[in-house]
Amino acid sequence: MSLLSLVQNSLKGIKLPISGASFSPEQFDAHVMTTYGRFPLTLKRGQGCRVWDDRDREYLDFVAGIATCCLGHAHPAMVEAVSQQMQTLHHVSNLYYIAEQGQLAQWLTEHSCADRVFFCNSGAEANEGAIKLARKYAHTERGIDTPLIITANASFHGRTLATITATGQPKYQKNFDPLMPGFAYVPYNDFEALKDLVISLDAEKPQVAAILLEPLQGEGGVRPGEVEYFQQVRQLCDQTGILLILDEVQVGMGRSGKLWGYENLGIEPDVFTSAKGLGGGVPIGAMLCKSHCDVLKPGDHASTFGGNPFACKVALTVCQTLEQDNLLENVVQRGEQLRSGLEKLASLHPDLIETVRGWGLINGLVLKDDSEITSIAVVKAAMAEGLLLVPAGPKVVRFVPPLIVSADEVQQALVAIEKALAAVA
Ligand SMILES: Cc1ncc(COP(=O)(O)O)c(C=O)c1O
Repeated sequence: MSLLSLVQNSLKGIKLPISGASFSPEQFDAHVMTTYGRFPLTLKRGQGCRVWDDRDREYLDFVAGIATCCLGHAHPAMVEAVSQQMQTLHHVSNLYYIAEQGQLAQWLTEHSCADRVFFCNSGAEANEGAIKLARKYAHTERGIDTPLIITANASFHGRTLATITATGQPKYQKNFDPLMPGFAYVPYNDFEALKDLVISLDAEKPQVAAILLEPLQGEGGVRPGEVEYFQQVRQLCDQTGILLILDEVQVGMGRSGKLWGYENLGIEPDVFTSAKGLGGGVPIGAMLCKSHCDVLKPGDHASTFGGNPFACKVALTVCQTLEQDNLLENVVQRGEQLRSGLEKLASLHPDLIETVRGWGLINGLVLKDDSEITSIAVVKAAMAEGLLLVPAGPKVVRFVPPLIVSADEVQQALVAIEKALAAVA
């Protein structure tokens, strides 16, 4: 008897718990840590911008794994890349040269201001890398003993200890102290506050190593950066030698209508980070820098899975598809369609909606502070209408569909959100 039939025989009559549809939320919570507040919804399959739940109900997916599935679900190019690379070589150590990693790095450096790339697995890990690079640069290139990194209030940079410290939102830090030393915070889009802090911190001797900002604050409420502010920040960094690090994890990879969020601001960072859309849903992160601050040397930093052939092949396919299918143009056009539709809805609900803001296909419907309606209530009402959305704070409803979304799908989402707003209003 073969090993396979032995295993099959021994399993006869045994009901395996992980059978998809029969796995209830109660069973799930009995086994998985309850670190997430989940909606009572189990998604079973996806195609393009649509997903289906375990009762085969269809939803339009304007969450896209939170700005991650930029090519939607089951995109043929990704399916092909995943299966082909699995059959060729899926993982080897960074002890060896990895052609797919080199090709992805080449694509990224040819399509950005960066010269070099370090690959990892997530946005938080990419930001960790950037923080380490900034500290080493401060020590070795500027003689700073205790480097300090300035970040913005309402920012979000991840959930590791260093990145919750970088995140300027106390709710993510509560009960996890002691936090990492070496961080200070300023209001976003307020250059005077930033300049004053740098002057006071550097008064005796320089200690500010880097300024870390999102070009558009995603989790903090879909708040776009202001051009004048970022240009002043760039100038300040040029004058002082402080590194400018931009977190492109949510807004990068075409979501803003440009490949990188910083292109909307007319500046270039010294270092930037990417994840989410980079792999289109396959885990990969990247930290990219210009050559003048490329200070990490063998032994300084590493990641077992970082840049493996599988993740890099898929990410390269995502990058090439964005380019070949001219998806940035789609992002601009569909973004304008979505914003103008949401603005019309805002004028229909002046007591409920404060404003609509965003770039490309990252947009927020901002609810009035004094209204009793929360973003969660709107998200739940939209779900009942077959539209998946995600809050960005208690008063902002976020729209981050796949970048392949069609005009018809945007129109369908507008009809659904109109019904959802009527239901909650
Ligand atoms: C701007 C930004 N940075 C970093 C992160 C963390 O990324 P990850 O969850 O992949 O660690 C996120 C996640 O939402 C993000 O939006």
